[in-house]
Amino acid sequence: MNPAPARPFTEPSTTLRLLDGWSAAGRPLGLTEHLRHHGPAPRPGRALIEAVEEAGLTGRGGAGFPTGRKLRAVAGGRRRAVVVVNGMESEPLSRKDQTLLAVAPHLVLDGAVLAAEAVGADRIHLCVPRTRTALLHALAAAVEERQDVGVDPVVVRLEALPHGYVTSESTALVHWLNGGPARPTSSPPRTHEKGVRGRPTLVQNVETLAHLALIARHGADWFRQAGTAASPGTTLVTVAGAIRRPGVLETEPGTPVGTLLRQAGGADQPLQAVLIGGFAGTWLSLPYALALPFSREGLAPHATPGAGVIAALPNDACPLAETARILTYLAANGAQQCGPCRFGLPAVADDFTGLAHGHATPDRLDRLRHRIGLLPGRGACRHPDGAARLAASALTTFTDDVDHHLTHGHCHRPTTLPVPPTTRTQEWT
Ligand SMILES: Cc1cc2nc3c(=O)[nH]c(=O)nc-3n(C[C@H](O)[C@H](O)[C@H](O)COP(=O)(O)O)c2cc1C
Ligand code: SF4
Repeated sequence: MNPAPARPFTEPSTTLRLLDGWSAAGRPLGLTEHLRHHGPAPRPGRALIEAVEEAGLTGRGGAGFPTGRKLRAVAGGRRRAVVVVNGMESEPLSRKDQTLLAVAPHLVLDGAVLAAEAVGADRIHLCVPRTRTALLHALAAAVEERQDVGVDPVVVRLEALPHGYVTSESTALVHWLNGGPARPTSSPPRTHEKGVRGRPTLVQNVETLAHLALIARHGADWFRQAGTAASPGTTLVTVAGAIRRPGVLETEPGTPVGTLLRQAGGADQPLQAVLIGGFAGTWLSLPYALALPFSREGLAPHATPGAGVIAALPNDACPLAETARILTYLAANGAQQCGPCRFGLPAVADDFTGLAHGHATPDRLDRLRHRIGLLPGRGACRHPDGAARLAASALTTFTDDVDHHLTHGHCHRPTTLPVPPTTRTQEWT
């Protein structure tokens, strides 16, 4: 199964906003072309917060938190604020953020600067994994281009962080920027109150900031012309797995899952399920999932779009073995600070691997269910919650496979999802 390459593709039927400039030029736009295409960024300052609230923009980094509320909380702090741009994209199935940064860096930087002006920040940290060297070079060039013409009234610093599944969590970014390891920390104090150097800190996903840059230019009503009332605007989706054209596309929330798969070229073989949201996401069976609107409200209560990932699983793959591999990866990539990460997650991964390999008994299955139930809400961050969601959804979506493995043992079907190796040593500093 193909991992999605970091490339966008466009469909005549989709609404392009973030990818519009790239689509028109066929390549990333330099600063001059970017400003010619999108128009100069206005300077609404603090008034932008109201526009973002009216637009109903929500975070595109996974949790879907209302961006306007976060801007207002940071702007209300007593000290000068800091903006942290989350360009880490640690979700292994996702490519949307690296794609956006590669094809429209100035839209993201415009958004970061506008957000900084709205909350009264004098400094922006653009965080990217240090392993993505080509992207870092391209971003350094974009930041320099802006500095040369002096378009930005705030300092923009490009930060190369250790790459890992939890090093991209907001408190981990702040911890690293404060000189510590890129491990999540417990809150309170919350980042928006006391983050980088003890200052109120706005952490925002790159896609969220690119939308914000367009809201500043075109307003809340324009933003709401796409998407649904509850999930307005457009959104980037990575379509991965057993489909003909894996990649990133821009779509309107509410587009059915089946349409998105078709826009990605359709299945390259018969499918049994989709993984929605990424490794910390939810398995949904087919054909049931095809008609579901891909939006927070359309997928509720079973799934959330998470970081905007749809991965297609072919019929001949073993869904339990796929889940066991992902859980093993998630267990190895926790920060090993809290109980659920140190003990619960590895135990769930081991139990699941036993089930996939045909070593499970009904008693062990009961123990697995019990252990999954103990994971959510007990870590300092939400890493164990995502793993629990994935494991629980596999047990409910693939009941026939669970029965088959209990009665007949290992099914020896292949695994196809691109799960990174778990043996590497995680860097934290
Ligand atoms: C384990 C874990 C990993 C995360 N990884 C990312 C990431 O790679 N990129 C991202 O934008 N947010 C990630 N988040 C969410 C961030 O903590 C934070 O909520 C987000 O950057 C806020 O931006 P938004 O409101 O614009 O979505 C992660 C959260 C968790 C719990
Ligand atoms: S739950 Fe895991 S990843 Fe999150 S803070 Fe605790 S040890 Fe770190």
